[in-house]
Amino acid sequence: MKAVPMLDLQAEYEYMKGDIDAAILRCLTHQKWILGPEVDELENKIAKYIGVQHAVGTSSGTEALVLALRALSIKLKGQDFFDKTAEIITTPFTFTATGDAILRAGAKPVFVDIDPATYNIDASKINEYLKTNHSNVVGIVPVHLYGQSCNMDAIQEIAQEYNLFVVEDAAQAFGGMWKGKKLGSIGTLGAFSFFPSKNLGGFGDAGMVSTDDEELASIVRMLIKHGGKDKYNVDYIGYNARLDTFQAAVIDAKFRYLDEFNEKRRVIAGLYASGLKGLKGISLPETLSDVYHVYNQYTIGVTEGKRDELQGYLSENGIASMVYYPFPLHKMKVFKSGRSKVYDELVHAEQAAQMVLNLPIGPLQQREVTDYVIESVKGSCRKNGY
Ligand SMILES: Cc1ncc(COP(=O)(O)O)c(C=O)c1O
Repeated sequence: MKAVPMLDLQAEYEYMKGDIDAAILRCLTHQKWILGPEVDELENKIAKYIGVQHAVGTSSGTEALVLALRALSIKLKGQDFFDKTAEIITTPFTFTATGDAILRAGAKPVFVDIDPATYNIDASKINEYLKTNHSNVVGIVPVHLYGQSCNMDAIQEIAQEYNLFVVEDAAQAFGGMWKGKKLGSIGTLGAFSFFPSKNLGGFGDAGMVSTDDEELASIVRMLIKHGGKDKYNVDYIGYNARLDTFQAAVIDAKFRYLDEFNEKRRVIAGLYASGLKGLKGISLPETLSDVYHVYNQYTIGVTEGKRDELQGYLSENGIASMVYYPFPLHKMKVFKSGRSKVYDELVHAEQAAQMVLNLPIGPLQQREVTDYVIESVKGSCRKNGY
């Protein structure tokens, strides 16, 4: 068996080569590199697909989060940045960028624990925190981790009760749904990443903000180009955070395959679920019934202390695996020194960081490769006696 990567981007390129090459050639022909026609076309297509009025391309998913939050500060508070006392509730079990974006928007992340079954933020913990302490809280940033929606009914209900905004971090969940609604269309704004390993990935960094709110969309449009409607006479502290024409062209070409690829990921996840069922020491991801999970990652839990052995065994057999994420955010230096707040014990997030292991999952992964990964996981369990 050939080495098994986490995701085979080469195979994806071969599969879509005609569309991608034609898209790039079109850019080479027109040479409109900054906010060229492809950016507008992609924004319109994605807004329609997600089911929102506005989509604004950005230079990365991280910038999409920062821009969404900054736009809220400008609209709601009339300030370029939130005050340091403004609190935004989020999960500690995510990529750094989620919490970092909150800091960069001037506010303070408040970390509450996750639901160990789904690895997503536990809405009941958000509620508990708000019941005891809510005067400084301005919003919630739920993360649809690994491609699975958070419980958006519960989160929206809480947001309405306390008059909070919701920014969905849908970086890992393009095409995912909650009760038939596309992720990124439920909260006040959504933020997407087109990092190459995402379900819809570019050939470099790129991202997008989605919203139904015209004023927020228009502020985000200003912030991506230095902070003004007129680039030479600006209103806000802005960025150079536009989506590249070239990336938009590539993402548009790949977008045609998105639904097909998400379905393929779900089939592979189904094979893993049945193949790995009942193994002692291995827990499988749980899916809420109202969710269309798009499996950016297939994540198993390994009995504490046994993960390194399993990862080593897979590696000896030529199989890549990853740990997303080895450190919960509240353990990182950047979130210390009073910059963030922790509500209650974050036991499940800390445990997840010790236990999770992400297995290879790419839309074009062949059946025999998935079977080989399953057999190898079983082989490791046998060898290590668990
Ligand atoms: C949950 C989450 N949020 C934010 C980001 C940031 O996206 P990007 O890498 O495009 O800046 C990522 C992706 O890396 C992510 O996984």
